[in-house]
Amino acid sequence: MEYRGKQIKRKDANNEKSKSSKITSEEKEGESKEKESKYGHMPTFPYQRVFTRAILILGVLTVVYFGTKDGREVALAKQKEVLHHRAQDITCSDDYKAELESFPGCVPRRCGRAMSDKLVSGSEADVLLSIAKRGMALGGSQGGATILDLHSGALSQGKNFVNIYRLNDAKDVFKKTDFTFYKVVKTKIQNAIAHHFGVQPQSLYLTHPTFFSRLTAAPALTVHDEYWHPHIDKETYESFHYTSLLYLSDYGRDFQGGRFVFIDGDNTNRTVEPRKGRVCMFTSGSENLHYVERVMSGTRYALTVSFTCDQKYAIDDPTLPSSPQNEQKQ
Ligand SMILES: *[C@@H]1O[C@H](CO)[C@@H](O)[C@H](O)[C@H]1NC(C)=O
Repeated sequence: MEYRGKQIKRKDANNEKSKSSKITSEEKEGESKEKESKYGHMPTFPYQRVFTRAILILGVLTVVYFGTKDGREVALAKQKEVLHHRAQDITCSDDYKAELESFPGCVPRRCGRAMSDKLVSGSEADVLLSIAKRGMALGGSQGGATILDLHSGALSQGKNFVNIYRLNDAKDVFKKTDFTFYKVVKTKIQNAIAHHFGVQPQSLYLTHPTFFSRLTAAPALTVHDEYWHPHIDKETYESFHYTSLLYLSDYGRDFQGGRFVFIDGDNTNRTVEPRKGRVCMFTSGSENLHYVERVMSGTRYALTVSFTCDQKYAIDDPTLPSSPQNEQKQ
């Protein structure tokens, strides 16, 4: 995490520079007024000026230090905004960059994050929300976090997981078109990531875990329910290179709390307020340390779509397992 320290130092140095240059210009104004004073020329003592300057600079440093000690919070994306495209570049972490060197075509032109509300429509988000709700109705965590992975079939149930494709009810729950929608949305996100980060779409592979999540204010019962810890995706899931989130419900309307927060090296937390259909994509390295705030009330739905550059971690698009009942429906 060397680079973070350096970033902070650079930022602070810039701050100090700009503050002290401001002071200098204020001083100059003071000087010129002094000269024009109707009381005539005032005697100045070099020692006095050095002392005054030192006091001023010390004062500025104190203000800068205490002003930034607790850091600040900046909104990257508010729920009420409709973003065509908003991006913030961050210097790639060294380990992330080094690892990606071995995947030609998959090395990002830049690291950071981007958000768009124009990629996935409200009705597409609603179809996915309906898939999540139907699937989760077959189980659900007793704690605050339920996940549904259409690829593996994993669904939280009580304190454990079950495979929905082995549950009898599951066969009537999903339609073939659900999986078609899922794939269409995934492909759009894949192309958007490729475009924004300057990589080839075909060098990105969908990877595990890619899943729906439902978060509530219920107290956690297992570690799987504790979604609010700051983490780096690359460290949690080795295969991740690019992470994306598609929000399926609205912050402030469907739930309170539950904002997505990037914890940045410049002592700033940058928040993304979930909005239905909003896609947030980012590089999965340590340049993007983040967490999700605890949901205070209501229910928050999202889809995490993860990509790797390493073909050996690729997973297929999910398909409806064939069963006699499903064959009839199609
Ligand atoms: C950012 O969030 C983290 C985790 O909640 C918190 O510990 C930290 O104080 C916050 N920093 C700022 C600058 O608000």
